[in-house]
Amino acid sequence: MNLNRRSLLLAAIAAGFGSLPLAAMAAPLTIGFSQVGAESEWRTANTMSIKDAAKKARVNLKFADAQQRQENQIKAIRSFIAQKVDVIAFSPVVETGWDTVLREAKAAKIPVILTDRTVNVSDESLYVTFIGSDFVEEGRRAGRWLLEHVKKNSPDSAVNIVELQGTVGSGPAIDRKKGFEEVIAANKKLKIIRSQTAEFTRSKGKEVMEAFLKAEGKKINVLYAHNDDMAIGAIQAIEEAGLKPGKDIVIVSIDGVKGAFEAMIAGKLNVTVECSPLLGPQLMKVAADVAAGRPVPRRIVTQEGVFPAEVAAKELPNRKY
Ligand code: AHR
Repeated sequence: MNLNRRSLLLAAIAAGFGSLPLAAMAAPLTIGFSQVGAESEWRTANTMSIKDAAKKARVNLKFADAQQRQENQIKAIRSFIAQKVDVIAFSPVVETGWDTVLREAKAAKIPVILTDRTVNVSDESLYVTFIGSDFVEEGRRAGRWLLEHVKKNSPDSAVNIVELQGTVGSGPAIDRKKGFEEVIAANKKLKIIRSQTAEFTRSKGKEVMEAFLKAEGKKINVLYAHNDDMAIGAIQAIEEAGLKPGKDIVIVSIDGVKGAFEAMIAGKLNVTVECSPLLGPQLMKVAADVAAGRPVPRRIVTQEGVFPAEVAAKELPNRKY
């Protein structure tokens, strides 16, 4: 609890409201949230989830969009500190470079919650908890699906993979690459022949896939995209090159947004590994616990599945993002 909330509470007690329940006396919780940007369908759903949950929980949410830039996130966090919010939450665009600003938050006694992505800091006490997916496991799930697919369909051929990575230095880009490579190492026929960032966006996904196709042409058997948006952009590039996405080039991606399900139903994408953006309700609950001084788990992992094209039509009506 920061000084604002504590002094309001003390004032309420001094004014004779000591017997009222805490919720009736305390000012609404103020959370400062710094979002990465609006780079993908996933991110838009994540922003909506956080804003909706804040409204429902009657939280005073101060929301800042960093437009994919770390310096904007650092500025936003400093402004939340200056405004003496109760809790700071953010989804860090990259993993490193947070020590100084998080030390400032700690010195101001404002607890920090990480959502979606984590940070790499020298002092783990600089944040209270991290709510989000296990990105390494997502990469492994994508790799396992591909190993099975190859075993069933082309066990004796060489498999040339191109990879569209997420934002350089971001948790999901680092971990999804790591998990995927770890699993496909089991079959020496699978080889990543090109790997480049497309910054998690559709437009870059298309642009980089065009360059891959120019360089490697029909040698490409598989595209592994770190998110659905880049896969959707790449599908366009593959079609424009006169090839059939999902058939001539097998496509494996991550997120599980509606756009990916539509692409699977159209036969243009083979599988999506789920990564849930619906973190808002958990964030509001954890922030309330933290502000009230209740203990919270250090790591809260989101539960997710894998959706191959065969289940897409049945699953689409259930998708919330
Ligand atoms: O951090 C989660 C990733 O960020 C999602 O996979 C991607 O779509 C987003 O932009």
